[in-house]
Amino acid sequence: MSLPISRQQALEFLKKYNQTERDFVHFLESEAVMKELAGKFGEDVEYWGMLGLLHDIDWGVTKNNPQEHLTQAPKLLKEMGFDENFIQIIVSHGYGFDCAGLQDKKRTSKIEFALACAETINGLIHSYALMRGKKISDMQVKGLKKKFKDKAFAAAVDRNIIRECENLDLGLDEFFDISIKGIKKIKDEIGLE
Ligand SMILES: [Fe+2]
Repeated sequence: MSLPISRQQALEFLKKYNQTERDFVHFLESEAVMKELAGKFGEDVEYWGMLGLLHDIDWGVTKNNPQEHLTQAPKLLKEMGFDENFIQIIVSHGYGFDCAGLQDKKRTSKIEFALACAETINGLIHSYALMRGKKISDMQVKGLKKKFKDKAFAAAVDRNIIRECENLDLGLDEFFDISIKGIKKIKDEIGLE
């Protein structure tokens, strides 16, 4: 699968529409988990990584009115040369949410489930790392699972979307392990230890 722009160009593209550091951490973590999943499944690591990196491209220009999230993304991505298939996968991470008229849509393909799970699990992992004094290097699946079960912890993280990993034939433990591994690899870039 070919990509119309390099990773460096994608970062510049993101900066044009997003200026918040915390949002960038989320983009990089989503990319890292997608790459790790692609590696696990023998899929195209660069392509899956690009989906993670750019999935919220219009967040910075729609977050004051979240119902508009993903209404701008197709146009912006098209201008950068991304094809309909790439754009549809990006938009699918909003299925089920009250944004861009996506509430009643359902994910069906492996790559759609992967993106939704990847962009959701990193919120839980990042919050847990902060609680642990920014430490991720020794984070264990068992501890993360406890936080997953504690619905009051990082309450905004939708546990049902994380459970969609079952559609990737991954149990929660395995998905947590893959996700922690992916994010660990970029810990220095995102202020974790
Ligand atoms: Fe996101």
